[in-house]
Amino acid sequence: MRTRPLKVALLGCGVVGSEVTRIMTTQGADLAARIGAPVELAGIAVRRPNRVRAGVPAELLTTDATALVKRGDIDVVIEVIGGIEPVRTLITTAFEHGASVVSANKALLAADGATLHAAAAAHKVDLYYEAAVAGAIPLIRPLRESLAGDKINRVMGIVNGTTNFILDKMDSSGAGYSEALDEATALGYAEADPTADVEGFDAAAKAAILAGIAFHTRVTMDDVYREGLTEVTAADIASAKRMGCTVKLLAICERTTDGRSVTARVHPAMIPLSHPLASVREAYNAVFVEAEAAGQLMFYGPGAGGAPTASAVLGDLVAACRNKLAGTTGAGESAYTQLPVSPMGDVVTRYHISLDVADKPGVLAQVATVFAEHDVSIDTVRQQGKDGEASLVVVTHRAPDAALSATVGALRKLDTVRGVASIMRVEGE
Ligand code: HSE
Repeated sequence: MRTRPLKVALLGCGVVGSEVTRIMTTQGADLAARIGAPVELAGIAVRRPNRVRAGVPAELLTTDATALVKRGDIDVVIEVIGGIEPVRTLITTAFEHGASVVSANKALLAADGATLHAAAAAHKVDLYYEAAVAGAIPLIRPLRESLAGDKINRVMGIVNGTTNFILDKMDSSGAGYSEALDEATALGYAEADPTADVEGFDAAAKAAILAGIAFHTRVTMDDVYREGLTEVTAADIASAKRMGCTVKLLAICERTTDGRSVTARVHPAMIPLSHPLASVREAYNAVFVEAEAAGQLMFYGPGAGGAPTASAVLGDLVAACRNKLAGTTGAGESAYTQLPVSPMGDVVTRYHISLDVADKPGVLAQVATVFAEHDVSIDTVRQQGKDGEASLVVVTHRAPDAALSATVGALRKLDTVRGVASIMRVEGE
């Protein structure tokens, strides 16, 4: 084994950075044996050096992240700061100075992964980011390497733990969205400002990264259709249950039927209880992959948290260090298919629509006519009437989302339709 250590710079020392430091310090001998050389933490860039961080050597702390990545003797930079700038500049500067980078930064990779990949390739160094999607769950490497010989057609996952916790609570206790969010906040799952999670931004960034890798193309956050779960009601969950389904916030990336483009979307959806993703409870994540030769695969585990995310970071660190020792680099960006991303209107899916209607002759026929006019075929209809009003639940067959959404628009205009109580896509069948 080489005795001269590989030098590592850590950018950020919050929940994940502290765990990375702890594991590097306590498991140094094992990491060295696996890599073939010792790894030495050479510096840790933080904003607040005086904050108490148990187990973090104070002498390694610096507030000058730029100077740290420019030192010239750093082999690998681990970035766990998050956000776009100054991190993008720090990462590209690290590449320019010969360091490989391990990042957990989904926002940056989803916004501008192409720039980072190009810079890493130009300087013949690695860019790894297993921790950016679904915490500890091995997903990027399996998609990028293990499945590199297969053709992936669909990736569908629960990639946000906070929202899965909320939906699971709503499902198991009948609670409304606000009540479930309060519980998630009290238990530390939801952040004080839960917007990124509940509005689907976090999941959309992960969907962009997964779609790009799965389909060997470039997908950015702006390409991903996004709906959060703030509009999901206890009535939606109850309706899902009546259909033998549950509601999940899904990130879905798929090839279009003609194979000429891809789509990426995040929205709440009903899935049958028999689908493997339906059994993903609490704050767990899981990603269901459909590949031509492999068939169906599911990756499951903790998608957030200091130690699980550090596990993914350390795995990347070992890979980047091994490559450094061997004088090589791992798999870089693969975007050769250049498949464009189609808009949400082109996605083919099913709708569950719950309408409040007048309970009188001809209403059902009127509603059915609107579906027919938009070329949307109805699968099932359930009606429950009371005091001249009725609740009508229609589940469609598969149709383009644009046609489904135009159908709902036309239904809203009917005098006999008092209101559209809920609209939800149905997936996983
Ligand atoms: N806030 C995310 C979640 C974890 O709830 O899953 C980080 O992406």
